[in-house]
Amino acid sequence: MTTLLNRPAPTASAALTLRSGAARVLFDNWTGTSTVPSRTLYPHQWSWDSAFIAIGLRHLSVRRAQQELESLLAGQWTDGRIPHIVFNPAVPHDAYFPSPDFWQSSRAGRAAGAPAGQETSGIVQPPVHALAAWLVHQADPEESRRRGFLARVQPRLAAWHDYLVTRRDLGGAGLAAVVHPWEPGMDNSPCWDAALQRVAPAPPETFQRADLDHGHPAERPTDLDYGRYVRLATDYRDAGYDDATAPRSFAVEDPTFNALLVVSELALAALTEELGGRSAPHTTRAAELTHRMVTRLWDEDSGLFRVRDLHDDTLVDERSVTGLIPLIVPDLPDHVVAGLRRTLDGPHFKAQGTRLVPSYDLMAPAFDPTRYWRGPAWFNTAWLIHRGLRTHGYHQDAHRLKREYLTQAGASGFAEYLDPVTGAARGASRFSWTAALALDLLHHAPEEPTP
Ligand code: SER
Repeated sequence: MTTLLNRPAPTASAALTLRSGAARVLFDNWTGTSTVPSRTLYPHQWSWDSAFIAIGLRHLSVRRAQQELESLLAGQWTDGRIPHIVFNPAVPHDAYFPSPDFWQSSRAGRAAGAPAGQETSGIVQPPVHALAAWLVHQADPEESRRRGFLARVQPRLAAWHDYLVTRRDLGGAGLAAVVHPWEPGMDNSPCWDAALQRVAPAPPETFQRADLDHGHPAERPTDLDYGRYVRLATDYRDAGYDDATAPRSFAVEDPTFNALLVVSELALAALTEELGGRSAPHTTRAAELTHRMVTRLWDEDSGLFRVRDLHDDTLVDERSVTGLIPLIVPDLPDHVVAGLRRTLDGPHFKAQGTRLVPSYDLMAPAFDPTRYWRGPAWFNTAWLIHRGLRTHGYHQDAHRLKREYLTQAGASGFAEYLDPVTGAARGASRFSWTAALALDLLHHAPEEPTP
């Protein structure tokens, strides 16, 4: 029997088939200016999706990868935030909820600097963008220089990071906080359950979900969760998306969000230096953020980072993949790196035959192998952990995870996520970031420097 430990490397022809399948997904999901995450479930442009997509697209077309990031950045607000959705005006409003008429960004977000001619959401997603921009540049530095790519994106990326470390430092301790469970990207993780208990759900008759037209209810968040998501977004909108005055019924510091900010600060340092600017402010900020993450979020006893709930300033007693992804941060103390590696291999995230890395603790009562972020294995989180393993020199582990990724991506039809126990495909199929990051792993050059 083939186990995960001895899964064979894809043959050259299997790799070719996988590559053309992944490329086909990205071509089909391209709208002319950017890529939809899924033609059915997510018909607009999403923020962290586009960053992951650009990382894969750079292997097919550097121009298109640049365009992917720049069309997202065109929706940036003047306060620096990059909205989690940039809406495509050609898509009917009922194709996705919450639609532009819910967010009302150009009106409700005007004082916060929302663009006048482009509808967006008002919340954010994890800051993968500077990392993506740097990787896109590295794919063809000459082409990038010729088109002035970095010079155009650098000020926008710097403003984005400034927004996160200033206006979003809601805990006052120098980490970025998120104000809605969609912001850390792991929408219905059990990590948010306790904080969400405090949120009165919007009445079900006041909104109409669109996700269930395309996704199975057992694989999506519950109606009760949706009611709370709607309430939080409504309250934020009604406060003009103003971080200083909006109610803070949900405010947490998320490990993955902050770890990606560290890695993106390092990428911003590299790309600023490439432009002849000073990298020191960015490397200093990355070091400070790393220190604060370890001080505020690391839990030595369980060997992973925890979410901090700012309501009562306590660590949330849940083990989630968000606590493992900080392995991508290069300058972690040795005991933290060793602890994360042990946890990755331990019983909470790995059992005989488990596929990729589950999004949530296999041993916890709330573990659900099927439902969105409450257990399924996701491909973007596997890619990040693969990068973290490489960053810290665990090349064999990284290689095993890469093979597993490629096998599962192909076998699942580039699924959005997998049941980590059976490997069954879940969520949308032909999902863009699954395809894009497969392309990246197929092309990955081992000597590529890690920002
Ligand atoms: N991922 C969320 C959704 O399901 C929000 O972007 O719509």
